[in-house]
This record gives sequence, structure tokens and C-alpha cells, in this order.
Amino acid sequence: MIIDSTTIILDGNPILRQKAEKVALPLSEEDRNTLTDMIEYVRNSHDADFCKEHNVRASVGIAAPQIAVSKQMLAISIMDEDGDIEFALVNPKIISNSTQKAYLENGESCLSVVPDREGYVPRYAKITVRAYNMLTDRMEDIRLTDYPAIVMQHEMDHLKGKLYYDHIDQKDPWKDIPGSVVI
Ligand code: NI
Repeated sequence: MIIDSTTIILDGNPILRQKAEKVALPLSEEDRNTLTDMIEYVRNSHDADFCKEHNVRASVGIAAPQIAVSKQMLAISIMDEDGDIEFALVNPKIISNSTQKAYLENGESCLSVVPDREGYVPRYAKITVRAYNMLTDRMEDIRLTDYPAIVMQHEMDHLKGKLYYDHIDQKDPWKDIPGSVVI
């Protein structure tokens, strides 16, 4: 399946507000295929021509509920000058986090939330996530900081039925968050 603008569901669809189900391991063929489609989609979306052809937005991550599959799976692909980071995770759990917060100075965006909602989205600056990673075929404890940590928390929120704007201060969206790392 090619994930495109017709497969990605939008805010207002109740699936995005459901708690996603745990996934049985080892992965079934169906779940493996879904997660493979997801990681390929995120990789492909770094390419402007692919985005044009399939009418999709560039992205760094996607969670299964966004393609109407209410299961605990997410895919992340971040390519920048610090190197490439990729995960295709099943049943991810945060096992430790910093008290320090971090946020993106331009706010977050989401394939399922159009148009963007503006404001700072406070996240943990550092997290350790335990999950099965399909790309390595292993259970892993993954330590992340700053931008990758924010992306991971955004995608994990989807598995809990949360959207990024739930964290935005409604009265004062751009209110300073003291002691935070600004990214
Ligand atoms: Ni999202």
C-alpha cells in the first residue's frame, strides 16, 4: 500500500482519539507490512517529487492511527547534517525522562492536523524509550535528546489518542517555558 493524502486521516476522525492497541510479537505479516509501508512513506516524503506526485507533506514521522490502524506502531526518519535517525517501533514506552523540558521555537505540525495549530508544545528534553525496533529486529532502550526526542514524543502521543495541540497553552500559546531547551 502506498500511503498518501487519501490514507492519512485528519483531526476530527475518532480513531485519532483512541488509545491504540498493543501489538503481538513476533510481528504478524500484516503488522510487518503496515510498519514497512509507514517507514517507507516517511523516507519517501523527504523527496519533493514524491510529495508532489502523491499529494503528501514532508514528514519525519507517522503513527499507525494516522492511517486508521489503531495499533502501537510508529515510524521515524530524520535526515539532517547530524546524521540519519530511523526507527520502526512497536509498543514503545518511555522508561525515563528528564525534568527539563524542550520545545520547538516554531511549534510542531502534524500530517493529521491541517492547518497547523500555533504555539509552544512542551516536551521532555531527554527520554529513554523501550520498544521493539523492526529495523534491527531487537528490543531496544533508545536514548534521545532534543529534536529526535520531541519527534518521538509527538508520535507516541498518537498512540495515546493525543494530538500536539493538546499541550499548547490555550490562553497564551507562545508563553515562555522557563528553563527549557529551545530548538
Ligand atoms: Ni502527528
